[in-house]
Amino acid sequence: MTVQPKPDQPTLTVPEGPRHARIHGLGGYRPERVVTNEEICRYIDSSDEWIQQRSGIKERRFAREDETVIDMSEAAARDAIAMAGITPDQISVVLMATVTHPYQTPAAAPILAERLGTNGPAAFDISAACAGYCYGISLANDMVRAGSAEYVLVVGVEKLSDFTDKHDRGSAFIFGDGAGAAVVGPSDFPGIGPTVWGSDGENWDKIMQKQPWTGLRADMTSEEAGAVEWPHFAMQGQSVFRWAVYTIAPVVDKALAAAGVTSDDLDAFVPHQANMRITDAMIKHIGLPEDIPVARDIAETGNTSAASVPLAAARMLNEGEAPHGGLALQFGFGAGLVYAAQVVVLP
Ligand SMILES: CC(C)(COP(=O)(O)OP(=O)(O)OC[C@H]1O[C@@H](n2cnc3c(N)ncnc32)[C@H](O)[C@@H]1OP(=O)(O)O)[C@@H](O)C(=O)NCCC(=O)NCCS
Repeated sequence: MTVQPKPDQPTLTVPEGPRHARIHGLGGYRPERVVTNEEICRYIDSSDEWIQQRSGIKERRFAREDETVIDMSEAAARDAIAMAGITPDQISVVLMATVTHPYQTPAAAPILAERLGTNGPAAFDISAACAGYCYGISLANDMVRAGSAEYVLVVGVEKLSDFTDKHDRGSAFIFGDGAGAAVVGPSDFPGIGPTVWGSDGENWDKIMQKQPWTGLRADMTSEEAGAVEWPHFAMQGQSVFRWAVYTIAPVVDKALAAAGVTSDDLDAFVPHQANMRITDAMIKHIGLPEDIPVARDIAETGNTSAASVPLAAARMLNEGEAPHGGLALQFGFGAGLVYAAQVVVLP
């Protein structure tokens, strides 16, 4: 059906955004408590040697019991805002990527917006697991360029310790807690390349909450109340590993091509910190030159899902491993299954 505006109605006024957007600031927060592989092995039949060899993880951080995803986000966001050189009231959208905010509603983002002293911006959460931050950067880029926001705060945060079964040999050693944040705003030059993203819903059960919340409610009213276990996250490690290494690795080539650059042009490669062996396989796949720094934050931080890319990128910048203004290829992938990759100019 073709639709034409009615003859006499006024034409809508629409915003005109800036031609380009970029990341102006990055920040990260890791909780204080270091959890070693030895501690993890108190609950599963494993060893420090096996965990390091199969995943590259030496330790991870767990948040305090009373420390929330909003607390962690606030710390990361304040660093990102400081680096961006803006004030919180200049933020027009707060977007949080998380799968571990423990309230179904309301979203975490409005609470964070309030904590930061922003001026009542649009605020919402997205659920795209380990790809959540890269999804968020894509949305923020589009919002700024379309003129619907000036500065967008994008936060990736997880408190996975709340949802990890410490007795599950297949996942207990992988996950950690943390937050990473970016401020996206207008730019004089293209600072965020096209996002290559997608989903593979056929494999929705490869990483998942074991049962829906409604399972717990049914349990509370049944005669065998208490029979249903807490809906921890479970993952089919081998399948996820194969999917990451064989099925979606070509996404990085597409993101480079879409941005009009090659792997030689990169100053940093920041893949989701899922497993050091997945990172190594991806490096091989792209044929990344050896002198280009690669995020290996997983060794000390574990897999922090939506937080992993910004946490790793912020660390590379802060430790001088990647240059301000340099080109980074970032790539998130995980539960859904979903993925998103883009080349960005580092703040
Ligand atoms: C989880 C993961 C590290 C397991 O490594 P893997 O090499 O696939 O291990 P497998 O499941 O094939 O098991 C290999 C052997 O180690 C054993 N094993 C499994 N878990 C173990 C553990 N925690 N400690 C010691 N041994 C273990 C298995 O029993 C098996 O023994 P067998 O060969 O005698 O049968 C790996 O599959 C992985 O990283 N997958 C991707 C996870 C991921 O990225 N998740 C997040 C995505 S966002």
